[in-house]
Amino acid sequence: MEGVIDAHTRDLLTRRPGFDWTVTEFVRVVDARLPPRVYYRHCPELHGRMITPSGVPVTLQLLGSDPAALAVNAEQAAALGAGVIDLNFGCPAKLVNRHDGGASLLRDPRRVHAAVSAVHKAVGSETKVTAKIRLGFSHRRLALDCAKAAEDGGASQLVVHARTRDEGYRPPAHWEWIGRIRRHLNIPVVANGDIWCLEDYWKARTLSGCRDVMLGRGALADPLLAHRIRHWLNTGEHLPPTPWRVRAAILSDFAALQRTTLSGRLVTSLIKQWLNHMRKRNAEAERRFQALKRINELDTLLAGLNDERETALETTAHGSEPTPA
Ligand SMILES: Cc1cc2nc3c(=O)[nH]c(=O)nc-3n(C[C@H](O)[C@H](O)[C@H](O)COP(=O)(O)O)c2cc1C
Repeated sequence: MEGVIDAHTRDLLTRRPGFDWTVTEFVRVVDARLPPRVYYRHCPELHGRMITPSGVPVTLQLLGSDPAALAVNAEQAAALGAGVIDLNFGCPAKLVNRHDGGASLLRDPRRVHAAVSAVHKAVGSETKVTAKIRLGFSHRRLALDCAKAAEDGGASQLVVHARTRDEGYRPPAHWEWIGRIRRHLNIPVVANGDIWCLEDYWKARTLSGCRDVMLGRGALADPLLAHRIRHWLNTGEHLPPTPWRVRAAILSDFAALQRTTLSGRLVTSLIKQWLNHMRKRNAEAERRFQALKRINELDTLLAGLNDERETALETTAHGSEPTPA
């Protein structure tokens, strides 16, 4: 996820068993072949075997609209070591769509086909090409055509975020629509959108009929969500809610990894960004966020995350306990 899930986050989220694979932030392709440093920056795992430190495979994602440019860049990424290349046809960002990238291609399935097949031809059979779509741009009428276009173009897997571009991130995600697509495709279809907890996971699977799901914001809100799902699948047991001390430890580890290369101020805002994702579903994270949001010094922020007294003070200050959204 662009600006949110980098190699350090992938590392932290995959330390406990849960994820089968992860994806990089998109590499934006305009017209030229990008230099290797761009790929290494988005995907430091290219220096190794395209796995996280705990061994979970990493897919490299490209976003663009020009088939020829996507093809040369995919070729480049494959030469650098990417074994799976994903094409992003789901990004709803205005800037990206204005420049004819991301979900804007869903207005014409032929363009999805052209992009996927150009990349598929360029990388050859050694490298897998996958795709990610939404249900459409402003309506769902072309959802199946776009999905089929990706399959016919050579995609070996399709992730479907169950909303149109115009629906943005507004609930609900229409998981049943993923099922309508899945029934007409021969490649694996992965359900995505609004999976925040175990119950959502099961509902998304049931309504879509998909065996696999992709987690986005839910994995930031509860960093143990993938593990929770895996544990339940393996044992039938429900793990307890992720305690604050585990969350604080993950945020502290995140800071330690990020501060090796970034300034304290930047790391401080990255921690707050993650805390912001957590607070939407967790009352303690909400309390910490409110207490710490104006702090700009990293060590003070970390002390506040790990300080148990902080919570007591904040509970008193706010009066009542906020409920998770
Ligand atoms: C801040 C942000 C950045 C994102 N960046 C990407 C991206 O780079 N590539 C991508 O395929 N999807 C990206 N997404 C979309 C998510 O992968 C996912 O499809 C979407 O958030 C719906 O799933 P969720 O409800 O589980 O978050 C991004 C979403 C957010 C909120």
